[in-house]
Amino acid sequence: MDIDFDVKHGLEGVAVAISSISYIDGEKGKLVYRGFEIEDLVENSHFEETAYLIWFSSLPNENEIDFITSMLAKKRTLPKKIIEMMKSFPKNAHPMGVLRSVVSLLGMYSKKDSSTLENAINLTAKIPTIIAYWYRIKNNLPLIPPKESLKHSENFLYMMFGEIPKHSDLFDKALILHLEQGMNASTFASTVTASTLSDIYSIITTAIGTLKGPLHGGANEKVLNMFKEIKSVENVEPYIYTLISNKEKIMGFGHRIYKTYDPRAKILKHWIKDLFLKDNVEYFEIALKVEEIVIKEFKEKKIFPNVDFYSGILYNYFNIPSEFFTTIFAMARIVGWTAHAMEYRKNNRIFRPRSIYNGPKGLKYKEVKGVEKNG
Ligand SMILES: CC(C)(COP(=O)(O)OP(=O)(O)OC[C@H]1O[C@@H](n2cnc3c(N)ncnc32)[C@H](O)[C@@H]1OP(=O)(O)O)[C@@H](O)C(=O)NCCC(=O)NCCS
Repeated sequence: MDIDFDVKHGLEGVAVAISSISYIDGEKGKLVYRGFEIEDLVENSHFEETAYLIWFSSLPNENEIDFITSMLAKKRTLPKKIIEMMKSFPKNAHPMGVLRSVVSLLGMYSKKDSSTLENAINLTAKIPTIIAYWYRIKNNLPLIPPKESLKHSENFLYMMFGEIPKHSDLFDKALILHLEQGMNASTFASTVTASTLSDIYSIITTAIGTLKGPLHGGANEKVLNMFKEIKSVENVEPYIYTLISNKEKIMGFGHRIYKTYDPRAKILKHWIKDLFLKDNVEYFEIALKVEEIVIKEFKEKKIFPNVDFYSGILYNYFNIPSEFFTTIFAMARIVGWTAHAMEYRKNNRIFRPRSIYNGPKGLKYKEVKGVEKNG
């Protein structure tokens, strides 16, 4: 066996880049974007402004906010041929598969093959249209074209449902919570693609494919499906203890970096609690009971709710089907993905790690009787 190298399983504790985009204190449960605490940003900012902060390193002035808002608003439309192709997709295709495929298709319609900020904004503007159009196509509903006068998040809800629901500001703030999170799996995967000097469509296709997995962004869909299966607060105990005794992972819990309550989950829980006091919010009481048991049972392993545990309850409140949840995550995280790709490219070096070979050596080819020889 080749023993010159150590294997860091899952790259735990390995830093692969120096970055000024975000900072996480996993012990204290802090998340900071470009120096601003996430609590401050969700309280006072909105999607366009925080996206500008992540891309350009500082909060925008009045002209700059107008610039980013109009750039995001003007680039929302999709080429007609792509819409036609989407109409021919199988109706049961998973929305994340559709999103990954349409981003990839868009790459063929792009004249410029570079990874500039302009391309990043263009793709960020189009992702909500892809998601909303797929929702409408899948449900045999007429498409609702984007409206330039609406904010990024409002326009998305409008294209989905034909109206802007009450409390839509919470949806906007939820996007802020998902914009960026250091060198997570999808950001790392897309940074690897960026490091080969590939184009932005390939970078984001990589990222979406990685986010889709249930150990990463796909967990939010699984969490809601778990709540649906549990059905009522009385069923929580037997359901969760069965998962624990079967040594199955409980979706929406645990994190590589946070060893305390994920600050994003804390904020989401607070909003949902407020909504719950005023309105009918499905699954909140079930979630509270699940959380109570999991925190108690996994005290030593420091397993707490992560962002995906509560986000689905909010999306479900807005009538977004659970299979679309991870696309909402992607709609926000594209900002972080593109910011990291551009930052890494400033001092680019291709990622090329090693694997340690533990297979046989020195075998000699032997002719297998009855198998025709090459040539
Ligand atoms: C997020 C996650 C992938 C992090 O993985 P990781 O850093 O590699 O941590 P590990 O899977 O090695 O977990 C460490 C220990 O905690 C346990 N653990 C971690 N998350 C758990 C969960 N959700 N439910 C039950 N046990 C869990 C593991 O079984 C492991 O126990 P062991 O040491 O006895 O083997 C993991 O916590 C997980 O699978 N969570 C569920 C999926 C999820 O919610 N993903 C969204 C993340 S934002």
